[in-house]
Amino acid sequence: MRTDSGQIFRLEDYRESDYLIPEVELTFLLDPQETLVRARLVVERRENVAAVTALELDGDGLNLSSLAIDGTPATGTAFEATPDRLIIARPPSAKRFTLDIETRLQPSRNKALMGLYVSSDVFCTQCEAEGFRRITYFLDRPDILSVYTVRIEADKKAAPLLLSNGNPVESGKLDGGRHFAVWHDPHPKPSYLFALVAGDLGMVSDSFTTASGRKVALGVYVEHGNETRAAYAMDALKRSMRWDEERFGREYDLDVFNLVAVSDFNMGAMENKGLNIFNDKYVLADADTATDLDFANIEAIIGHEYFHNWTGNRITCRDWFQLCLKEGLTVFRDHEFSADQRSRPVKRIAEVRGLRAHQFPEDQGPLAHPVRPRRYREINNFYTATVYEKGSEVVRMIRTILGEDAFCAGMDLYFERHDGQAVTIEDFIKAFEDASDRDLAQFALWYHQAGTPHVAISSRYDAGEKSFTIEIEQSVPPTPSESRKRLMHIPLAFGLVGADGQDMVFDAVEGAVVEDGVIHVRKRHHSVRFTGVPARPVLSINRGFSAPITLSGETSTDDRLFLARHDSDPFSRWQSLNTLFTEALLSATRTVRGGDEPLFASELVGAAVSLAANDALEPAFRALALTLPGEPDVAREIGANIDPDAIHTARIALLKAIAREGRATFDALYAGLHDNAPFMPDAAGAGRRALRNVLLEYLALADENPAPAKRQFDAADNMTDRAAALTVLANHFGETQEARAALSAFEARYADDPLVLDKWFQIQASVPAPETVALMRSLMEHPHFSITNPNRVRALIGTFAMGNQRAFHSADGSGYRLVADTVLALEAHNPQVAARLATAFRSWRSLETGRRDEARRVLSDIAKHENLSRDLADIVERTLA
Ligand code: PHE
Ligand code: ZN
Repeated sequence: MRTDSGQIFRLEDYRESDYLIPEVELTFLLDPQETLVRARLVVERRENVAAVTALELDGDGLNLSSLAIDGTPATGTAFEATPDRLIIARPPSAKRFTLDIETRLQPSRNKALMGLYVSSDVFCTQCEAEGFRRITYFLDRPDILSVYTVRIEADKKAAPLLLSNGNPVESGKLDGGRHFAVWHDPHPKPSYLFALVAGDLGMVSDSFTTASGRKVALGVYVEHGNETRAAYAMDALKRSMRWDEERFGREYDLDVFNLVAVSDFNMGAMENKGLNIFNDKYVLADADTATDLDFANIEAIIGHEYFHNWTGNRITCRDWFQLCLKEGLTVFRDHEFSADQRSRPVKRIAEVRGLRAHQFPEDQGPLAHPVRPRRYREINNFYTATVYEKGSEVVRMIRTILGEDAFCAGMDLYFERHDGQAVTIEDFIKAFEDASDRDLAQFALWYHQAGTPHVAISSRYDAGEKSFTIEIEQSVPPTPSESRKRLMHIPLAFGLVGADGQDMVFDAVEGAVVEDGVIHVRKRHHSVRFTGVPARPVLSINRGFSAPITLSGETSTDDRLFLARHDSDPFSRWQSLNTLFTEALLSATRTVRGGDEPLFASELVGAAVSLAANDALEPAFRALALTLPGEPDVAREIGANIDPDAIHTARIALLKAIAREGRATFDALYAGLHDNAPFMPDAAGAGRRALRNVLLEYLALADENPAPAKRQFDAADNMTDRAAALTVLANHFGETQEARAALSAFEARYADDPLVLDKWFQIQASVPAPETVALMRSLMEHPHFSITNPNRVRALIGTFAMGNQRAFHSADGSGYRLVADTVLALEAHNPQVAARLATAFRSWRSLETGRRDEARRVLSDIAKHENLSRDLADIVERTLA
């Protein structure tokens, strides 16, 4: 494990390397206990670098067996090798020379899951961001682009399958039951995209013919016996390939595309050139084992990794500060893909809910950082919602500002200009400026400034003058290390909604640039005056969530209810109802803390019920509209002195109020939504199930009776309905015989299926009750709990820490201690996953004093440990700062 040197990396310190590595030949003699790696590097001195300048290669825990320089074995003083560095003080003076480096690895002991490791008897690699240096010494930075040739040798029985990047070149038998394969990737790539897989896997194969007629062999590799569960992934891959051609004009560029599912993986998936490696959670799916959400995630992540081929691989990052260059852009592309495959409005609402749940708390807490950070201690800690999700929102705003045509021209120019290069955010922005003739200098602050901008709005109608005026005030709250903020360019999509629900037309507008339904806010204050407005409109603002901001204003309940019913923008309809729910929950939470029973306005409860029954709206939309803001959403709105128990009580009270009012309506709807057709993972079917499952919770609460959930659990022919029913039973009826029986039946049925068993752990970890802490301690003793499998850790501990506000924040601090103990246990073998789990503490300062003190104590105890990994030390210290 790397221990912390405390070194900080800064954007302004970027410097080109003195040497390049145009060619790499790797040979792997695979063995789980001891693997020999031979690397032949062709090294080239850059143009204006003096001959014999020292060459320093990165390593991480390496064990050097031998080194030759230009074919001659190097000895003694010719080099200096430590586990973390290989320094050749006086390299050959020729412009080009070769290094032959031999290292020895122990893949089966690698539990950090970075570099070369073994997962369920399959050799695989993970090199992003800095894992390649755990395989061999290298200039392990993304601006070093090399052509790779890889030879793999392994035992033929244990590893009949040998894969690497690029195209297959040669394969054959060797002595002693071994065999080999050679792969060549003609596209120069950074080391973080290198990959190797070797093992005994089942396969689904297919092919895809690109627009220009290249026939590509496609392979999806999974554990034997899981082949039928890979069909959906293959289908999603082919749809991704077609979509990128049609929407972005981007074709695939190799003869093969392979995708491998492994069961031990730190993240979701990895876009290695021509050989994507996936967490099997995002590959395997069928009706019996995967929910609709699983199917949607698989489609999105298959798309995401495939789209990286152009945004990330062909055009890569100059350095890791530019991570959002590939991630934000590729998330934007996968969002668009999903929106085209499914319902665009429903997808947008889900994105915004995700952004608020994951990115807003990051931006508003101690770990806040710009979309393009300027400094880091450990780059692994910057694979964040800010870089990914806010990074995507920023690209989306560029499209809003430029319009579809200029945006496409900018993308085309970016691809054309930078293909084969390692570039920066400045290069990206410049392509849009050049293609559109616009100045994006102020807009670029979205990349450079952390924090969620706030916009305050008020408006008035003057009937005599027939004018409508909107007062707009922007502010950006201070964040760690950035106390003063500059004014942003905020594109606010809007409409002036008339009594008939149509947008009103106006004669003229002054006070801001207003174009194509967007107000461009660029100053601190704008007074935007519309004239020729025949009657008082209802203002619909930030339509489609055109800017990732928080908004305040004194919109009346009547106006919000009106927008919820009539706005032409579906996002805004959802938002209006959601805001009303949030306001009701804020006031109910205050009531609960004052010791009283909360009451809810009948018009709000009635609006929810009538929306549920509105056949003109698609079921998936209705399901989202009827889903109350989560407990963390309410906590975020409260902002300070948070009492999670009061929020929980208030939310249950609103659920029950709606349940009682809607009982008869929901009953009829629930029955009507049932269909007898076999399960299909399409968007329409998923939408019907989503609505039905939201209704199920209300029905169970209406009579406080587990029977409806029990019936659905027993009758379900698919995992979506089964897991939803089990969740209702566990969350609301945990003490009943019905809940206990269902949990055991589920456990028995799926004992041998790790991905489904993860759901069983997850459902129990999310039960919002104080007793969950004790239950967690016993689940961690379960024979199937494993601290080395990241999916299992995330399902149990991750869910508890990030998805169970009430139990994690138990007043006695027991939830904090449980998570801290796990973080420290994980830290010893997998610092990356440990550090991520520790981010659960990031909102500790906004809690009421008792919990705040408990959290601070637990965090300080972690910080006191000696030899913390760089990953964990970085998170804990920033969280406490
Ligand atoms: N680059 C991967 C993705 O977003 C994420 C990842 C990062 C995976 C680091 C593994 C390690 O597509
Ligand atoms: Zn990505």
